[in-house]
Amino acid sequence: MKFVKLSNNDEVAQSAAELISKIDTSGTSPVVALPTGKTPLQLYKHLVQQQKAGKLALGSFTWFALDEFCGVGVPRESTFGSYLETHFILPAGLSVSSLHALDFRSTDPDAEAARYEQSIAKAGGLDLAILGIGHNGHIGFNEPGTSFASRTGSRNLAPRTREANAYLFADSDMPYDAISMGIGTIMEANRILLLATGESKAEIIHRLSETAPTTALPASALKNHPNCIVLVDEEAGARL
Ligand code: GLP
Repeated sequence: MKFVKLSNNDEVAQSAAELISKIDTSGTSPVVALPTGKTPLQLYKHLVQQQKAGKLALGSFTWFALDEFCGVGVPRESTFGSYLETHFILPAGLSVSSLHALDFRSTDPDAEAARYEQSIAKAGGLDLAILGIGHNGHIGFNEPGTSFASRTGSRNLAPRTREANAYLFADSDMPYDAISMGIGTIMEANRILLLATGESKAEIIHRLSETAPTTALPASALKNHPNCIVLVDEEAGARL
C-alpha cells in the first residue's frame, strides 16, 4: 500500500483521473468498480470534463457500482445507481447500459449478490477498483468485522455509517441494509485506488497507515494487495 499525499481535493481527483486515462483500452472493455459519497464527486467532474473534451475514451469501459442500499422503501433518487448516473454516466454522455448497479429493491439479496458476482466475472473481472473510506475504515459497505474473504452480499449498516449517509435520505427512512461487493471481490481487482479527502478522514487514514491487516479495520485488507495506492489530500493526510 502506497500513500500519496497531494495538496487538495482537486489534485486527488486529477491524479485519479490520470490513472484511469492510462488504462489500456486496446483489448477487451476495461472494468472499473466505482465508489459513491462526497469524496469522488470531484473525480467524476474531471472525468466528465475530459470525456466531453475528447481527452478520454471512456465509452469502451464497463462500470460496476461498489455497493448499494437495500430495502423496499428506498427511493431511487437516494441510491448509488442513481448517484453514478447523475454525477458521471449521463453528464459524460456514456451509455446507461455500461453501468452495472445492484438492485436496491431486491427481496432476495443473496440471489442479487450472486448475479452481481457473475456479471463481474462475465465482464472479465475488475481491472481497477476505486474506493472511498468510511470513518470506521469500511470499504464499500464492508463494516468492521467483515471477513477479508467476503464476496458480494448483504450487509448491515453500522450506526455511524447510517449517520454519515443520512443526508441522502432527507425525506425517507434511512435503510439498515445494503449490498456490497465483498472485500475478497475487491481484492481480486488488478489495481486498487483508495481516495480520502478532508479533515474528517485524518484519523482513519492515520490508523490505516499504522495498522497491520485486521478485520477490525476493513481497509487494512488492502495492505495485502500488490498494487494499491491511497491518494489523500493535505487534510486527510495530516497525521501521516
Ligand atoms: C459510504 C459508501 C462508501 C464510501 C463512504 C465514504 O458509506 N458505502 O463506499 O466510501 O460512504 O463516503 P464519503 O466520501 O462521503 O466520505
